Amino acid sequence: MAKKTVVSPDTSQLNKDIIKKLPNSATIVIFGASGDLTERKLLPSLFRLDSDGLLPEKCVIIGVARTDMDNETFRKKIMESVGAYSRHYKDRCGNWSVFEKKLLYHKMDYDNLSDYKTLNKLLADIHKKQGMNSNCLFYLSTPPMLYPGIVSKLGEAGMAQQSDEHWRRIIIEKPFGRDLASAVDLNNHIHQVFNESQVYRIDHYLGKETVQNLFVFRFGNAIFEPLWNRNYIDHVQITVSEEVSLGSRAGYYDTAGVLRDMFQNHLLQLLTLTAIEPPAEFNATSLRDEKVKVLKAVRPIKPEEVAKQTVRAQYRTYRDEKGVARGTETATFAILKLFIDNWRWRNVPFYLRSGKALNSKVTEISIQFRHVPHLMFPLPPDELLPPNKLVLRLQPNEGMRLGFETKMPGAGMKTRTVSMDFLYEQDFGENILPDAYERLLVDALQGDASLFTRSDEIELAWKITDPILRGWEGEHAPPLAFYELGTCGPSKADEFIQADGRKWNPCM
Ligand code: BG6
Repeated sequence: MAKKTVVSPDTSQLNKDIIKKLPNSATIVIFGASGDLTERKLLPSLFRLDSDGLLPEKCVIIGVARTDMDNETFRKKIMESVGAYSRHYKDRCGNWSVFEKKLLYHKMDYDNLSDYKTLNKLLADIHKKQGMNSNCLFYLSTPPMLYPGIVSKLGEAGMAQQSDEHWRRIIIEKPFGRDLASAVDLNNHIHQVFNESQVYRIDHYLGKETVQNLFVFRFGNAIFEPLWNRNYIDHVQITVSEEVSLGSRAGYYDTAGVLRDMFQNHLLQLLTLTAIEPPAEFNATSLRDEKVKVLKAVRPIKPEEVAKQTVRAQYRTYRDEKGVARGTETATFAILKLFIDNWRWRNVPFYLRSGKALNSKVTEISIQFRHVPHLMFPLPPDELLPPNKLVLRLQPNEGMRLGFETKMPGAGMKTRTVSMDFLYEQDFGENILPDAYERLLVDALQGDASLFTRSDEIELAWKITDPILRGWEGEHAPPLAFYELGTCGPSKADEFIQADGRKWNPCM
């Protein structure tokens, strides 16, 4: 077969389309500017966007934090992290001198209203001096307990107010609440200051190119959709496996655990996009309305059912990690078996599985089709042909694999599973996929909330996770299993799916 030609997308045309929708000017204010996320993700992404000409023509980025620092020190610090974390920094380092002029640092105390007034005055001065209008994108990247206070003070200082000439928007990082009640409180609190159309709750999985490709894959091709239902699909496996362990995040992680950290947001988003009905239009409202319908149809796992429908486990050395509570029961690995009670998915199990300190970093959705209804080939008794499997690989080695049966050459009628593969890298070239934050920052600047989570969506996701968390803390909790670092997880994981006569797609 002829070798594939790599055809890189014509980014100049794509970029022109993006630029058309960007405002002429905007200021991005990042609260929590000395934090890890700002250094590893936000500023490297903004640098990359700037060097591609994908920020507003006039753009100022103000890092806000409690640390005492001047502009120069901040810029130097950011230059190091951009060098370390930005894709293609080497090719684009010439742009640094342009980018750094856009960067300012502002020290403030998040509790002090007069500091917000000073920030507001700084914004007004910058806008006037640079001939910018007052568009402002606030980014909350602080510890979550500071969110309500910052939102209130922004309101009290009059900084959330928009006019016909300018907008004010706020991006809020996860975790959004730690249960349903706190998420509802936070939503109510935010809505006292910002209306819903100003609020962009971020789940960076939605910014991943491969996650967005789920829409195109399902709704841009005629051949998959007719099979995408309970008549043809036996079950779905959604796996997010991580090699990293706790790192230095004990303070947050030990009180959150894998269910709050990964399932309530990323895994449920993946489930939603796998199961969603085709929206009538590709816009924020239609898309999010359809996602909400899926979440509403997820059958909640009652606290007394958690031993049957979930697995919780911890990696063996977790309790020795610095900052972790003694004898902690925090799960670092979990499996949920969920059902979606609607016409399309009734009785099709969705197995969601995620954990830290495993043997590989893999995110994938595996669609396992049903066995053929009748076998005419001579197979030994009780033997079935392996069913077709479609694996959507979201990271790394992004792409797709369709497994199907083929006759092995030669006499007789022996079959073997072979596959058809698509790899982004092979068709579009290496290093072509942008970081999720690049996409999401541009979307927020353009006012497109399609890939952000709406208030009702967040609350429904908590409605699914809350009873499980309660069940895990109560008398029906499944025993906490343990697993060695660098393995596929606890043996309980295999037993769990084997009990249903199925097995895991061998990816982790
Ligand atoms: C974050 C979690 O939201 O997602 C982390 O807090 C996790 O614990 C990370 O490691 C995984 O993201 P990615 O993009 O590396 O799959």
